[in-house]
Formats: sequence, structure tokens, C-alpha cells
Amino acid sequence: MTNHKVLVVYFSRTGEQYGVGNITEGNTAIVAKIIAEKTNGDLFEIKVVKDNYPEGYNALTEYAKTEMQENSRPEIIGEVENFDQYDTIFIGFPVWWGDKPMPVYTFIDSYNFNDKNIVPFCTHEGSGFCGTQGMDKTGARILKGLAMYGHVAQNEKAKAEQQVSNWLKAIGY
Ligand SMILES: Cc1cc2nc3c(=O)[nH]c(=O)nc-3n(C[C@H](O)[C@H](O)[C@H](O)COP(=O)(O)O)c2cc1C
Repeated sequence: MTNHKVLVVYFSRTGEQYGVGNITEGNTAIVAKIIAEKTNGDLFEIKVVKDNYPEGYNALTEYAKTEMQENSRPEIIGEVENFDQYDTIFIGFPVWWGDKPMPVYTFIDSYNFNDKNIVPFCTHEGSGFCGTQGMDKTGARILKGLAMYGHVAQNEKAKAEQQVSNWLKAIGY
């Protein structure tokens, strides 16, 4: 464990999700909380002011597709307190259409990441890691990310914890 001051930012949805049925805690949220616990980090959930995301999976995929085609930047509730104190920001999200949900772009656009470490993580159901679009122009150092199956995060807690531990160790946290 190093002296990093860590912030764990995440976007995640409940309701009906692929392969896991109706969930009350999002897959990415579960991973975010494991990371925060293991790094002694603070958590910030990206929530949108106008939450019109459907609860049903198919409707959500359609809604998300439109939002992405419009390249929208949905307004986020609140802000990170004293952002400057953090030297490392983990940013987590579900893979949506091979990319990030647009509110994650809003977050990335909203802060100055110069000289900070960004560590991406995502949950998905087959795509694997979706890359660092939107993060590469921030001026941050981008560390190796983690991609975890959503159903593993949701249903296999011990395996999820182990994957997070192995990865954190590999990147020096
Ligand atoms: C709108 C939408 C688009 C998705 N697109 C992909 C995709 O392109 N590739 C993939 O592997 N999984 C995709 N998924 C599955 C999610 O990434 C996966 O279920 C994730 O764990 C959900 O996390 P959450 O509960 O934190 O929101 C998609 C899910 C949704 C709702």
C-alpha cells in the first residue's frame, strides 16, 4: 500500500441488467465499493439530474444508444469535494455499446486531471475492456484498467474480490 489519496468514481445502474435479472445494487457499484475498501478511497457516484434511464434492459439499451448518438453530456448531481486532494482517480462504468455511458464523459469533462493518475475499470458481458476514449486527452497518466464480467461482480463476491486484489497489486495499489 502506497501513500496515494484515492477517489473511486463510478456510474452504475440497477433494475433489469443483462444476465443477472433485476438487481438492487449495480454490478459496477459492487466493484467500486471493493476498490474503495481496498485502497481506503473515497466514493463518488455519478448520478444524473434528469434520470430518465428505463428500468427494463431492452428499453435501456435503446435509450443509451440515442444518448450516445447525440453525444450528449447529461448533467451530473453535485460535485467532488476538494478534488485537488486526490492523486489517483479510479473511474468505473458499465460498458454500453462498446463505450462508456455519456454521464461518464460529463464527469471527465468537468475536472482537471493534469498530473493525476486515472485508473479505468468497467463491468461488461463479453466486450472486455472498452478502452480509454475520453480519458486520453485529460493530461492524466492512465494506468492499466480492470474489466470484470457483470455477473461475476453481482453473483461471485469472492472471485470479484480476488480479481480486484490481483489487479490492484499489479498496478501498485
Ligand atoms: C445500454 C447497455 C449497453 C450495453 N452494451 C454492452 C456492450 O457493448 N458490451 C458488453 O459486453 N456488455 C454490454 N452491456 C452489459 C453491461 O455492460 C453489463 O451488464 C454491466 O455489468 C452493467 O453494469 P451496471 O449494473 O453497473 O450498470 C450493456 C448494457 C446496457 C444496459
